[in-house]
Amino acid sequence: MKFVCIVRGSLPCYTYPMKVLVIGSGCREHTLAWKLAQSDKVEKIFVAPGNGGTAAEEKCENVFMVDDAATAEGQEELVQFSRREKIGLVVVGPELPLAEGIVNRFRAAGIGIVGPDKKAARLEASKIYSKSFMEKYGVRTARSRDFTDAEKALACAREHFNAVAGNASAPPLVIKADGLAAGKGVVIAANITEAEEALSAFMKNKSLGEAGASVVLEEFLAGREISVLAAVSVVSGNGSIQPFISARDHKRRFDGGKGPNTGGMGSIAPVPDFTAALKDDFAKSILEPTLDGMKAENMDYRGFIFFGLMIKNERCYLLEYNVRLGDPETQAVLPLMDFDFADLCAAILAGQDFMLKWKQGSVCAPVAVADGYPGSYRKGDTITVDTTALEKTGAKLFFGGAKKIAGAGQAAELQTAGGRVLTVSAYGKNADEAWDRAYQGLEAIRFSGIGYRRDIGKER
Ligand code: AMP
Ligand code: GLY
Repeated sequence: MKFVCIVRGSLPCYTYPMKVLVIGSGCREHTLAWKLAQSDKVEKIFVAPGNGGTAAEEKCENVFMVDDAATAEGQEELVQFSRREKIGLVVVGPELPLAEGIVNRFRAAGIGIVGPDKKAARLEASKIYSKSFMEKYGVRTARSRDFTDAEKALACAREHFNAVAGNASAPPLVIKADGLAAGKGVVIAANITEAEEALSAFMKNKSLGEAGASVVLEEFLAGREISVLAAVSVVSGNGSIQPFISARDHKRRFDGGKGPNTGGMGSIAPVPDFTAALKDDFAKSILEPTLDGMKAENMDYRGFIFFGLMIKNERCYLLEYNVRLGDPETQAVLPLMDFDFADLCAAILAGQDFMLKWKQGSVCAPVAVADGYPGSYRKGDTITVDTTALEKTGAKLFFGGAKKIAGAGQAAELQTAGGRVLTVSAYGKNADEAWDRAYQGLEAIRFSGIGYRRDIGKER
């Protein structure tokens, strides 16, 4: 069967079935590759660099990379590879290559790529830029001030804590590094000592390099968090944003929201407490002004966006934009998509409306991590899966920090190679059934030092 896709603008016409390139190496990229593999319009998926899970996934093959996709050399390597392989569509997982202009490079080469261009990627790459965008277009968010001078930032922090001195339930101060910091750029300082430590580390000692040279000091909002991922197709002052079903990430390492922050210990979709009234509030106070701003700024944003929301007093506040899909939210949201993901990508690029259709039911997706994570962690432990027990639950494993054991005959023989090793993504007709299946699925996985939370979807 041949389908023809005509794409507007500088993109080429291409024919289906096509080859796709997914960039990244985590559980999110495994999920993207798995979902794309379900399309009869996709004949093959290359994943650069991929991981042990994508190596074994149907229609998928990992691409060895000499350089990182966030570098100019790595991006050029991927463009050359895509030309040789006649890739029809590129999907980028992580933010760093986007912030470093991978979309501009592929578009210049005439290859269809889903993602914001470098300028639009500043919505994530610079907190100062994104907060000024929110303020300019009236997107509801926490009050904040930005600083490039460490002494002025310290003075502002002192002013905050002096003003609340003596108040037993004094609100903390949120300190955000301006640039990308791989999840290490936000500190919630409970007192002036913690604030001074964070500001000195970021601004004076450059613990995050240039990413922390400027900061945003932000009002702390107490509430519950919700993630909304969405498809964005904005170019030349026109376009739309189509939100996906809601998801919730659980960021703290231990049950009950305790312990250090992580990249995400598990997710659910949809979120039961994202009510119709909240959805309406989100649309009016966050989504619509964001879309207006993207058009007014003449952004070229044909990709995915992540709205990180805090719900306080039944109102939505935007904590952050990410210019990509979330991890682990993707592992809960994509399995509920009742449409062809390759079609959605083509519609995003072509600026066409697309009818999103969702399966009824829920997904619970806990993450299994290596011992020690999010600090320094064990590596090189063999991962065993009781496939009979896993199959009974219907759960799907999406791998992240896992690689093929050297010399192993089968791609399925894996060992741990990263902090967040895998996600068990389980569907149920309701949230409780999804939770039961996900945790039965986790029982089928073994590796030394395996750790996971028991309350994914239960804690708010
Ligand atoms: P961000 O990268 O801005 O999303 O921040 C990372 C995490 O820090 C969020 O997911 C929240 O848990 C927390 N956070 C960020 N900003 C605030 C805020 N203004 N009030 C409370 N918590 C926040
Ligand atoms: N789950 C949070 C993120 O992807 O940034």
